[in-house]
Amino acid sequence: MMTKHILMGSVAALALSATMALAADKTIGFAQIGSESGWRAAETTVTKQQAADRGLDLRFSDAQQKQENQIAAIRSFIAQGVDAILLAPVVATGWDAVLQEAKEAEIPVVLLDRQVDSSEDLYLTAVGSNLVHEGEVAAEWLIGAVGDKPCRIVELEGTTGSSPAIDRKTGFENTLKGHDNLQVVRSQTGDFTRAQGKEVMESFLQAENGGKDICALYAHNDDMAVGAIQAIKEAGLQPGKDILIVSIDGVPDLFKAMSEAEANATVELTPNMAGPALDALDAYWKDGTMPPKFIQTESKLYTQADDPAGEYDRRKGLGY
Ligand code: AHR
Repeated sequence: MMTKHILMGSVAALALSATMALAADKTIGFAQIGSESGWRAAETTVTKQQAADRGLDLRFSDAQQKQENQIAAIRSFIAQGVDAILLAPVVATGWDAVLQEAKEAEIPVVLLDRQVDSSEDLYLTAVGSNLVHEGEVAAEWLIGAVGDKPCRIVELEGTTGSSPAIDRKTGFENTLKGHDNLQVVRSQTGDFTRAQGKEVMESFLQAENGGKDICALYAHNDDMAVGAIQAIKEAGLQPGKDILIVSIDGVPDLFKAMSEAEANATVELTPNMAGPALDALDAYWKDGTMPPKFIQTESKLYTQADDPAGEYDRRKGLGY
């Protein structure tokens, strides 16, 4: 009996070390967009951690928000002969040629958090949230909060041409249809950054009677909302009260703002895209298992009633 246990133990250990050896031999290239937001910084931290935990050699490239840099990084990863490429595509269009090159080099590409408009056979899978649904959740919250009152909304859009900017706008607008008391009166890109969120919000405030004609802000990410909160305070108004604020990501600073009643709601986007992506790659490397073309992460709404101070504490050390 004892011998059998020892034997089974050694077989299990051998199998485990074979898997570790398989993973340890692999090199991954990560073509990241940049560090435009707290969420993006957290995604980078989590991806590096996930790769380290699995014994993978991760080569990281920060494209400084430029598609041409991401394309150059992918070409460099192909030349280095990596075993897989993770790509967070800054915009949705213009990827066909480089994805085709990766395919011809037999290097699987996994998309993280954003989509491309290329043919599905050019990448292995995409990990991300339902971006249209995030916009719908934000709009549903606002409809509930405003009721029948007239409400002039300003919108801070994400990076022009990126799938979250396109889809979050679509989901929000579609859900407002039939609720004629709610109207988006101004909409402009803040490029997913805190600085541009503040700057564009200042121009909205100026154009809308010092902000007195604005009932709500919908920001495509939390960082732009945090910048806008600063602008609203500097204009002498109370964010979260005079102007309702709903955004997307669930970063610690937004939870802090909610705990201080300066923001109202956020739709969480997990920064752990790498976990499901590397699981899919492990299975693919092991026996050729093809993952589904889209691996969806959860989108959860948080409001001031959902212990924002506790959520801030739980997240503040996680690399945001
Ligand atoms: O693609 C996900 C979006 O990109 C996040 O919501 C935003 O913060 C980031 O820049």
